[in-house]
Amino acid sequence: MARRTELPKYTVPSLTVEDGAAVAAVLQKRLNALNDLALTLKHIHWNVTGPHFIAVHEMIDPQVDAVRAMVDAIAERIATLGVAPVGTPGALVADRTWDDYSIGRAGAIEHLGALDEVYVGVIEDHRKAADDTEDLDTVTNDLLIGHLHELELFHWFVRAHLESAGGELSTHGATTEKAAARSAGKAAKQAEDR
Ligand SMILES: [Fe+2]
Repeated sequence: MARRTELPKYTVPSLTVEDGAAVAAVLQKRLNALNDLALTLKHIHWNVTGPHFIAVHEMIDPQVDAVRAMVDAIAERIATLGVAPVGTPGALVADRTWDDYSIGRAGAIEHLGALDEVYVGVIEDHRKAADDTEDLDTVTNDLLIGHLHELELFHWFVRAHLESAGGELSTHGATTEKAAARSAGKAAKQAEDR
């Protein structure tokens, strides 16, 4: 990925090349995060099992398509800013600060519990990136806010499966994917036994 010291030869009108480089650096992190999210969503699409298989399997694909469109828009915004976007998997893995998604074949509700955690992390970082670009580049800020409309909607789709009639999330208090998957699975089992 481009180092901060490598300034672009040009950037969008009204921004300094320093600001263009700073905005592109923020966007490169979001490019990595959303590329990772798109792959993780497909992994879940392939690995869900159990009675909720088809609902969850089919819910995931439109999310993959939307996230891939976000990735494309981010990469093209980086290029528009005069910086080369980096889309290779080795660069993504070298730069990321999170671990691979930790669950293989598992029940649909367990995966949704873990995916709740995944979306929390992605959305928190996307909101931070939106805040960080608000004063530098309103166009990039608007792009990221647009993504948040969809990402937060998808997060609700996931959470609606984990929510009790009283409005509580079965993943409440969990801080890891595995713990969230366990809590979600346990709550679903209890609901079935009732
Ligand atoms: Fe498929």
